[in-house]
Amino acid sequence: MEKLKIAGGYPLKGTVKIDGAKNSAVALIPATILAESPVTIEGLPDISDVQILKHLLMEIGGKVTFEKNEMTVDPTEMVSMPLPNGRVKKLRASYYLMGAMLGRFKKAVVGLPGGCHLGPRPIDQHIKGFEALGAEVTNEQGAIYLRAKELRGARVYLDVVSVGATINIMLAAVKAKGRTVIENAAKEPEIIDVATLLNNMGAKIKGAGTDVIRIDGVEHLHGCRHTIIPDRIEAGTYMILAAAIGEGILIDNVIPPHLESVTAKLREMNVPIDIGDDQIFVGKSGEIKAVDIKTLVYPGFPTDLQQPFTTLLTQAKGTSIVTDTIYSARLKHIDELRRMNAKIKVEGSSAIIDGPVKLQGAKVKASDLRAGAALVIAGLLAEGITEVTGVEHIDRGYSHIVEKLNGLGATVWREKLSEEELEQIKSS
Ligand code: EPU
Repeated sequence: MEKLKIAGGYPLKGTVKIDGAKNSAVALIPATILAESPVTIEGLPDISDVQILKHLLMEIGGKVTFEKNEMTVDPTEMVSMPLPNGRVKKLRASYYLMGAMLGRFKKAVVGLPGGCHLGPRPIDQHIKGFEALGAEVTNEQGAIYLRAKELRGARVYLDVVSVGATINIMLAAVKAKGRTVIENAAKEPEIIDVATLLNNMGAKIKGAGTDVIRIDGVEHLHGCRHTIIPDRIEAGTYMILAAAIGEGILIDNVIPPHLESVTAKLREMNVPIDIGDDQIFVGKSGEIKAVDIKTLVYPGFPTDLQQPFTTLLTQAKGTSIVTDTIYSARLKHIDELRRMNAKIKVEGSSAIIDGPVKLQGAKVKASDLRAGAALVIAGLLAEGITEVTGVEHIDRGYSHIVEKLNGLGATVWREKLSEEELEQIKSS
């Protein structure tokens, strides 16, 4: 296991290139299970979640190659192998194997997913959708068993707007008999990306990106080539970093409309931003103003950028309030930021931040992926050396983070954890 060491306090400038979207990738890869010939996905990020899914597809008989961000999956010899334990527990998105395997084989056994601990993360809406399509769903010793004689299109109203449930129901429904309608569907760009891949494979999906999605089932799906969308959360993280400590950073390979809520908030803080076709330039900030943030479903402010944004707000003049309405417990980064001298109080699901403060380097722990991003930005701002453990969380979602930061002029490096640090992690 490793930690990141960051020598902070140096301004950053230059260009950073954004990779393919993690939260698309983790759905696009399972979607290939539904095809009857090879599917190629271009532009995948080189992150551990992608590697784990590659191995999971190989476990069920897929032939998979992954080189230079391009994955080809030959799904012809796949079987519905039970996956109750092992790699499925390592990432949240292994739940997409349920929808995809159910859609192709009419049966699946998949362990309940792992992923970041952000408070309760139920999958009742996914199950409601599978059952509406005709599947029998049981939970046996921590694994979900799905069986159906046949899948029939149905009308599913989501009680909670859920990215995962929307995509999972699409995966299960594309080969069902008749029409499925998902109402109160999530509208995130990643949902449109998955629908685009499935339609390229021969599916008939309309309305992805709106809150009503109609799917007319087809019998066969074929292979195709697909280019993934850029990662709006990785891009947003670098925009926040640029606002905090940049002297002019160009963020390349982005879809600017996907980042409108972030751009609007940064502009409200007086951060200079220029928008191009597929690039965003964040200029050097002068004094930045405190603002309030409330996370919402897309196109609202994304919960995945709430934690990095909190770090930026420690540099803003005045009091800011951040409220996460999606994951009320996504506040584990706050204690770590406090160790670095941040002035933050937590009240319910809100963080109240007073700034500006000079952050100090410290030993901190990334409890989840975006907490990790928040602490890396804090380390870059802080005086002295910051050590961030829990790097395995960061590597789940930020490809080549050390190389990208050093390319902007940062001094960041990886070090192996000492025996003593490993012992501390085991006992905590
Ligand atoms: N929810 C339910 N029941 C369900 C599903 C969700 O109550 O059956 C609740 C959740 O507890 C949460 C809300 O609905 O309060 C939204 O959850 P959603 O299902 O949309 O989240 P997800 O699909 O599990 C994805 C991303 C997350 C991101 C959320 C919200 C993936 C693999 N993960 O999770 O990304 O925070 O949408 O936008 O796509 C991350 O990238 O760091 C990350 C955690």
